[in-house]
Amino acid sequence: MQQRQHLALLIFSVFVLFQTSNGHNITRLLAKHPSLSTFNHYLTLTHLAPEINRRTTITVLALDNAAMSALLDKNPSIYTLKNILSLHVLLDYFGAKKLHQITNGTALAATMFQATGVAPGVSGFVNITDFKGGKVGFGAEDNGGNLESFFVKSVEELPYNISVIQITKALPSAVAEAPTPGPSQLNLTGIMSAHGCKVFADTLLANPEAMGTYEDNVNGGLTVFCPLDDPFKAFLPKYKNLTAAGKASFLEFCGVPIYLSMSMMRSNNGLMNTLATDGAKKFDLTVQNDGQEVTLKTKINTVKIVGTLLDEQPVAIYTTDKVLMPRELFKAAPTPAPAPAPEEPADAPKSSKSKSKSKSKSAPASDESPAYSPDEDPADQTADDNAAVSFVGGRFAALGLSFLLLFLLL
Ligand SMILES: *[C@@H]1O[C@H](CO)[C@@H](O)[C@H](O)[C@H]1NC(C)=O
Ligand SMILES: *[C@@H]1O[C@H](CO)[C@@H](O)[C@H](O)[C@H]1NC(C)=O
Ligand SMILES: *[C@@H]1O[C@H](CO)[C@@H](O)[C@H](O)[C@H]1NC(C)=O
Ligand SMILES: *[C@@H]1O[C@H](CO)[C@@H](O)[C@H](O)[C@H]1NC(C)=O
Ligand SMILES: *[C@@H]1O[C@H](CO)[C@@H](O)[C@H](O)[C@H]1NC(C)=O
Ligand SMILES: *[C@@H]1O[C@H](CO)[C@@H](O)[C@H](O)[C@H]1NC(C)=O
Repeated sequence: MQQRQHLALLIFSVFVLFQTSNGHNITRLLAKHPSLSTFNHYLTLTHLAPEINRRTTITVLALDNAAMSALLDKNPSIYTLKNILSLHVLLDYFGAKKLHQITNGTALAATMFQATGVAPGVSGFVNITDFKGGKVGFGAEDNGGNLESFFVKSVEELPYNISVIQITKALPSAVAEAPTPGPSQLNLTGIMSAHGCKVFADTLLANPEAMGTYEDNVNGGLTVFCPLDDPFKAFLPKYKNLTAAGKASFLEFCGVPIYLSMSMMRSNNGLMNTLATDGAKKFDLTVQNDGQEVTLKTKINTVKIVGTLLDEQPVAIYTTDKVLMPRELFKAAPTPAPAPAPEEPADAPKSSKSKSKSKSKSAPASDESPAYSPDEDPADQTADDNAAVSFVGGRFAALGLSFLLLFLLL
């Protein structure tokens, strides 16, 4: 047990190391500078941080906490804020030295805002100009030639991957500051209804409590697993049998409070909390990938993701071939016996659910981790243990996949 935990930790560390060693991490770079903590916080909230980490040869124009609070005073929506902050990420490397030696004293730099395609025309470019006395001014190009923000200091430089420099205040830009329609305008149930999940969508609409929970999570990140109409229709009698609280919990169980892209689910397995998770009421599910296939499982059953209705940060909606049932509300098929006998790894109903045989056969060799070896004391193989096994297995698969990708890339 102890060994297994160490193994899991080791694999996890290797995985994390592997994921991050080939680039910079803006969150970590800024964490060293408390005066930039608000800026750092909003890079994460707007999901700009991973986009910054993906790129090289960039310059981040950082704002200190006072400049950020002046910006936040205008109450921009998080989407507008994303546009504004993405105007502060230049797609070229400007260290302190280069800034003061710009050819002819002025330059235009393309920004991440311009690169998103949201910015029309020339907006989305930043004018950098050297003034007398070593002053360097910055302004959005659509700001009528006013350069009102100035270089303060170099914060971090990793030439020529990323330079972080502090400027006095946010670059005003009418285009970047324009109100942006966010995903809160998304019609979740409309999208589901139009693509094979009408029964689920109608059920959700009829439950204000669950619907409210979904809406509350749309902006911060939401992944919905909606069962297709036929399986959900067949499930309705069971649903109608639930108490009012059970109904809301069941519907909330079909949503996860983070955005999970398909590629994230294919490479990152494990236990997930759901919208129904509330302290002791776990209502969790396990995401498990098997090659290109992604399955979701609980102690009760396993379902397959069969379609993508929406996969656009921060919201994803997938369809499932069956209704995933939380163990908190449903009982397993009438076979399970409480005795340790059915815990034999080979044929126990529980085991066959948590690791299907087809998986063991088709999975890469790296998935055959020691964690799968059936040499455990059956009594030790509790329910939670099983979850840990599948988690470790997932890490192995993810690690294997990462190496595979690396070799493909090389
Ligand atoms: C970047 O660093 C932060 C803080 O140390 C960490 O939470 C985050 O997972 C890191 N991101 C990546 C992609 O490694
Ligand atoms: C700098 O100015 C000269 C003369 O005005 C011009 O020919 C040249 O193209 C300019 N260089 C850049 C990089 O703008
Ligand atoms: C930047 O703005 C200044 C001041 O308005 C202007 O003189 C300069 O030509 C601009 N630079 C570029 C490259 O457009
Ligand atoms: C820049 O990135 C490359 C690979 O992306 C890495 O090998 C190099 O060490 C990085 N340079 C710095 C200064 O971090
Ligand atoms: C969402 O879509 C449904 C079905 O298409 C429609 O009936 C409903 O009016 C829409 N809601 C909003 C707020 O647009
Ligand atoms: C609904 O609950 C009743 C009483 O507990 C039970 O007899 C019946 O089988 C349940 N129906 C379904 C479809 O689960």
